[in-house]
Amino acid sequence: MATVSRQKSILLKQFNETRARTLSLVQTLEKDDFVVQTAPFMSPPKWHLGHVSWLLEVVMSKTISNYEFYSQEFSEYLNSYYHQFGEPHDKDKRGLATRPTVDQVFEYFHIITNKITGILQNEMLDEKIQQLFFMAINHECQHQELLVYDLQHLLADRYRPLTKNPLPTPSLQESTSIKINGGLYIMGYPGDQFCYDIELPEHKVYLDDYKIDSYPITNKQYMKFIEDGGYDDFKYWLSDGWDKIQNEKWNAPMYWEKIDGEWMTCDFLGKRKINPNEPVCHVSYYEAAAYCKWANKRLPTEAEWEKAACWNEKKQIKTIFPWGNESPDPLHANLLESYLWNCSEIGAYPNGKSHYGCHQMIGDVWEWTSTEFSGYPKFKTGFSEYNDKWFANQKVLRGGSFGTPSISIRGSYRNFFRLDERWLFSGFRCAE
Ligand SMILES: [Fe+2]
Repeated sequence: MATVSRQKSILLKQFNETRARTLSLVQTLEKDDFVVQTAPFMSPPKWHLGHVSWLLEVVMSKTISNYEFYSQEFSEYLNSYYHQFGEPHDKDKRGLATRPTVDQVFEYFHIITNKITGILQNEMLDEKIQQLFFMAINHECQHQELLVYDLQHLLADRYRPLTKNPLPTPSLQESTSIKINGGLYIMGYPGDQFCYDIELPEHKVYLDDYKIDSYPITNKQYMKFIEDGGYDDFKYWLSDGWDKIQNEKWNAPMYWEKIDGEWMTCDFLGKRKINPNEPVCHVSYYEAAAYCKWANKRLPTEAEWEKAACWNEKKQIKTIFPWGNESPDPLHANLLESYLWNCSEIGAYPNGKSHYGCHQMIGDVWEWTSTEFSGYPKFKTGFSEYNDKWFANQKVLRGGSFGTPSISIRGSYRNFFRLDERWLFSGFRCAE
């Protein structure tokens, strides 16, 4: 019982902090900013704000008998892809709806916050229901990160963050390739706090001996691939990837532009020269795989990535994070609450390195792995339509980015995207 009530107080604390963080991310926006959708893959801030509240209603509907949703009209607009709740609104037309209004969505946000706070403070919640609320909080964290991607696309440096901290000074080192012994490795989430269904069950995998880069691939390294004609030669590319770069005329990562012979980007820091020492960001799986082929290397599998991040060979134990089991703080990794609004340079987080000496595995950029997204052996769904309906045509990314809230990341966390998506903060490191 003591554990259940302790969990409940963690739940309430995380819920309050998460709702406050969502509001803080949009606090400096103008009303006009909330409605606009600048590309089919992004969503207007208004939609995110409403959708995270709607998902809380979804959880309430699973736990309260005869639960009535706040509004049928809101549910239709705010449903992302849950067919069990009716036909979702077209994703690429979210920016064409002027109803519900921005004011109505804010009112809805506060009503739902108060309703859930009441439940978390007053009701007896069994463990299963608590897990559902933890899931809804983690879902909101996922949308905070999507909102950050979308704010970059919508506003770039016209976005005014409430907090913006200076970038850390790196102790720059050359990237090396770290040798890791193979053998049986038990992958999956080893802790007793919330994790998603797709991080379980822990299971054995056999790994051959391998090598993995100590740092993510940098802009400097990636520029060499570009300058060497990487985007002009089919031999580096998967067939679908080659078609994609031809059709979309891609010749560099997203947001890159060559002006007067100089590669420039445009992001939260403004229009600026590419910093050679930052991890390359905004690359698709296709681009990551092509780079590896050009470099005579390959992407790590997610099991290789996880072992390099979390296994302590000396002590023969697996930890939740590369540095151990303590929750991330701003000295370990560049996550959302670092509020840097950019990747930090490689070598900026010596305190966050893994037992094997791999740097920046958590934070900065998500790292593509070669693994197809699917359920682990004996996978059981934790929530219908949330994760497992995406078990096709997606690749796994690991480690979180500078847009990931710190409570929602861990070494076992599995993100997944289609192979051509790159508006997320995505990079990679190589293996051999
Ligand atoms: Fe969602």
